[in-house]
Amino acid sequence: MMIERTFSIIKPHAVAKNIIGAILNVLEHAGFKIIAVKMLHISLEQAAEFYSEHKEKPFFEEVIQCITSGPAIIFILEKNNAIQHFRDLIGATNPKNAIAGTIRAKYATNITENAIHGSDSAVSARREMTYFFQDHEIFPQFW
Ligand code: PPS
Repeated sequence: MMIERTFSIIKPHAVAKNIIGAILNVLEHAGFKIIAVKMLHISLEQAAEFYSEHKEKPFFEEVIQCITSGPAIIFILEKNNAIQHFRDLIGATNPKNAIAGTIRAKYATNITENAIHGSDSAVSARREMTYFFQDHEIFPQFW
């Protein structure tokens, strides 16, 4: 086990539903520390860059529309084995396949409006967090 960081977004439709606190409560109770956080309206340019690995996928436009549809909450989390633990906590991309009790099972509307994003690997986590946060905006916890 090692302390890792992962990157997450509470998607605009979840912000609009007034469930920021409910989602943060779940992850704090699961032992994740929020070490950086911002609210922002992600631009089309930022979204295209962020999701560039999905550029050729049929759902690309849908994903861009979803993530730019209003303000989002972006944050960095720290925990032992954070990347996999967070993927487990948020549940499957498609909420129809998400295990009961996961964040997406509770709060997702559909496969695009699935409430929350979580990095899928250490490489993605690093790329995603450095895209949105500078070093001085990150506040590591002392364990
Ligand atoms: S993939 O194909 O496994 O690489 O895709 P995945 O990483 O699971 O999903 C990437 C983001 O795209 C959204 N998504 C979709 N939207 C609409 N239709 C379909 N079929 C679809 N599949 C995936 C999904 O919400 C993912 O967003 P993030 O922000 O990564 O959770």
